[in-house]
Amino acid sequence: MARLVLGVGGGIAAFKSAQLASLLRKRGHRVRVILTPAAARFVTPLTFESLTGEPVYHDLWNPPRYGDPDEALGEAHIHLSRWAEGALVAPATADLLGQLASGQARDGLTAFLLAFGGPVFLAPAMHHRMWLHPAVQEGVERLKRWGYRIFGPVKGPLASGEEGLGRMLEPAELADLFEDHLHGRDMEGKRVLVTAGPTQEPLDAVRHISNPSSGKMGYALAQAAFGRGAEVILVSGPTSLPDPYGVEVIRVRRAVEMYEEVARRFPEVDILVAAAAVADHRPKGMQAGKIRKEDLPFQVELEPNPDILKEMGLRKKPGQVLVGFAAEWGMDEASARRKLREKHLDLVVLNDVSRPGEGFEADTNRALLVAEEGKEELPLLSKRELAHRILDAVARRLSRG
Ligand code: PMT
Repeated sequence: MARLVLGVGGGIAAFKSAQLASLLRKRGHRVRVILTPAAARFVTPLTFESLTGEPVYHDLWNPPRYGDPDEALGEAHIHLSRWAEGALVAPATADLLGQLASGQARDGLTAFLLAFGGPVFLAPAMHHRMWLHPAVQEGVERLKRWGYRIFGPVKGPLASGEEGLGRMLEPAELADLFEDHLHGRDMEGKRVLVTAGPTQEPLDAVRHISNPSSGKMGYALAQAAFGRGAEVILVSGPTSLPDPYGVEVIRVRRAVEMYEEVARRFPEVDILVAAAAVADHRPKGMQAGKIRKEDLPFQVELEPNPDILKEMGLRKKPGQVLVGFAAEWGMDEASARRKLREKHLDLVVLNDVSRPGEGFEADTNRALLVAEEGKEELPLLSKRELAHRILDAVARRLSRG
């Protein structure tokens, strides 16, 4: 759990930052809030104090006392710059971005940001024409070059009643992204391809064979890899999940479509993580239109689908890392090891789909990581946390070369 500064700029999206502060605290982080004077007009310091249990810094000339032992060593913004492990500014207004891009420190927040050497994430929010102004765009490019990470804005309804690119990401998305990025940038420069979700194998225009995969495990992996600096492509079967921020998403339906999309991209990627629950077989010869109830066959003839992962295993080049999953009824390590060998994998994530709260659909999962040289047991974790533990194992392999 981290020590975080949440900076809040003076825009209407400031009200969402109260929810963000509360979420981050509920996830176990210590959150200290700095409000710009304009932000304090939108949401009072007392709101954030109550939500975080920490004093709020909102007046450069009248800083709060945090009660830390080393507090006397510097002004509040300097003290916080030593205390914090990461900072998130939400909303980052045009004015705030401009100040930061030109090195100004007119209030406690910009003073802190100039003094702070750790990772800073900016979540812009403003009217879409302000966002597109060259002064803002050039400032943002400069901030990116300096290592600031920008989340959003996204398209959507704006406070003005118009639609446009200017809306702040939602608090839960920001909290996830922020946590994913705090794991460090050990996948910078890497291209990661993730498969996720089920496939649907149609019998006719309205019926199909499928499975209960929700896509949560694969989407968590894609988001986590993006957070760690990778360029991520997600090939997803049908799910109800929104596209993860920062990830290129390719939506497919059938296993053969997933195979084509993966095969096309595989030569260019460093890491393939196959979390999709691909149907092993499909009905032979899809019928056009809807088969009438009276004509429905009692037996459906099936034919095999391509084994996407096995095919990629055969095409694997030196340096590429292949991670497969094994969805087993029980923790069947022998079966996972068979998949490891037969599909030429570096790592298999074995999960037990017979247990509630694990495997399909759940928000949590438990796994045994199986490699040629050993294994690692991962306890029941959120799928996001598990995704990071899987990527830790991948990163260790990459660093070994
Ligand atoms: O999506 P969720 O609801 O979050 O659920 C997560 C999950 C249970 C789907 C996930 O954790 C998981 O176990 N995914 C793999 C499911 C599966 O198909 O396992 P398998 O043991 O049948 O396949 C072994 C591996 O080969 C998998 O990596 C699979 O993606 C791949 N495969 C399988 C068949 C096929 N035709 N092509 C493949 O690429």
